[in-house]
Amino acid sequence: MFKRRNNNSNAGDSESNDTDSITVYFEDRPIACRPTDSVAAAVLLVDPGYTRRTPVNNAPRAPYCMMGVCFECLMEIDGVENQQACMILVRDGMQIRRQDLMADLSDANAAKQDDGAKND
Ligand code: FES
Repeated sequence: MFKRRNNNSNAGDSESNDTDSITVYFEDRPIACRPTDSVAAAVLLVDPGYTRRTPVNNAPRAPYCMMGVCFECLMEIDGVENQQACMILVRDGMQIRRQDLMADLSDANAAKQDDGAKND
């Protein structure tokens, strides 16, 4: 899906940032990335399909703006949910997971029905 750009500005330049590779894990799958990558950028290297589901209708989502505005990149990072992956740099050994949280709307729906019954 996405391909890393070559940062070498001069053709024939043998210096490369790829030598600073670290490994993070997305759904237990290893990803080789650079320490300067955001979590979202690292995950997009492996074509994740989706990285979270919406809590209301379970629709799949993936990072979109990559600058902290849209909140489509929420993921579980090292066991902590609701992390904005485009704003967090990778760290060697980081464990990243999709966020599949469905909101429990049963209480909200029950309260709505109670309000409706009182108004009848
Ligand atoms: S991708 Fe938009 S806030 Fe992270």
